[in-house]
Amino acid sequence: MTNSSEENKVKEKAVLDFSNLPETGFSEDTTQQVRTYFSEIIKNVDEFVREFHAIPDTLLYNESYMEQFVLNNIGLNNESLGELAPELAPYFGTGLYIWQNPKQFSKYMIWLLKNAQNCSSYLEIGSRWGGTFIVTCEVLRRVNPNFKYAIAADLIEATPFIERYASIATEAGLEIIYFEGSSTSDEFIRMVTEYKPNITLIDGDHRISGALKDHMLVRKFSKIIVHHDVCSDTCPESTLLWNSLKQLESEMNHTEFIDQYPSLKGNYFGIGVLFRE
Ligand SMILES: C[S@@+](CC[C@H](N)C(=O)[O-])C[C@H]1O[C@@H](n2cnc3c(N)ncnc32)[C@H](O)[C@@H]1O
Repeated sequence: MTNSSEENKVKEKAVLDFSNLPETGFSEDTTQQVRTYFSEIIKNVDEFVREFHAIPDTLLYNESYMEQFVLNNIGLNNESLGELAPELAPYFGTGLYIWQNPKQFSKYMIWLLKNAQNCSSYLEIGSRWGGTFIVTCEVLRRVNPNFKYAIAADLIEATPFIERYASIATEAGLEIIYFEGSSTSDEFIRMVTEYKPNITLIDGDHRISGALKDHMLVRKFSKIIVHHDVCSDTCPESTLLWNSLKQLESEMNHTEFIDQYPSLKGNYFGIGVLFRE
């Protein structure tokens, strides 16, 4: 007889096939498998926080260093792999499982470090496993000791990554709020209108109707509004919305991080930032 608990662990991992996970609406079984899977790698959160803090100021703003840091010390998701360059395969399903293009995300991190020093609150709509949320909070905390609270929202339940980060952050005096539900719900709208986060990342419902509603909700108070998948062949609606908002929000400045990998045909991801001086 083999050791049955070891055997069970292997089975649990084998059945969680990220390439077939629906974006939302997990069955109870899948919810449980996701929880078990991420609980086993929860130490990735502590490792990231430690390693990010250890980056010296002299390297924090260095684009090539930070791009490599995203790969080695943050780690990528393993869903929708066709959108990620095949040479990045060793980093799929590692670290914090962020659903990002490392070339774009590393430059966005540097932009935040330089431009978000006065922001003391953050909202991420569509936080998924929680990796992008955790990294963004740490970036904002690094440049602002008065960074006060952050809200993560998703249709799925809070993941072990978010739960672990909430306890690390609380010890450091940062309040983390998790909202399980739709960004269009009355409860969410009431909460966000009361909190008025300084920065919002919109990465939930990628249809124009959804992403525009999220934008309309925060535009009165968020000084920085970030849209995800703004240069993406697989997300034509969020891409169209971004190209429209750049013109429609004429009182806001904008910048975008849309570098692509030559090994991929087409455009994927893209981070668009609208900001007030
Ligand atoms: C692309 S994933 C987010 C990835 C994450 N921001 C990251 O960078 O790793 C989109 C997430 O949005 C969530 N979502 C979709 N519609 C939503 C809504 N109306 N309100 C809140 N979350 C939503 C989905 O459940 C899914 O987990």
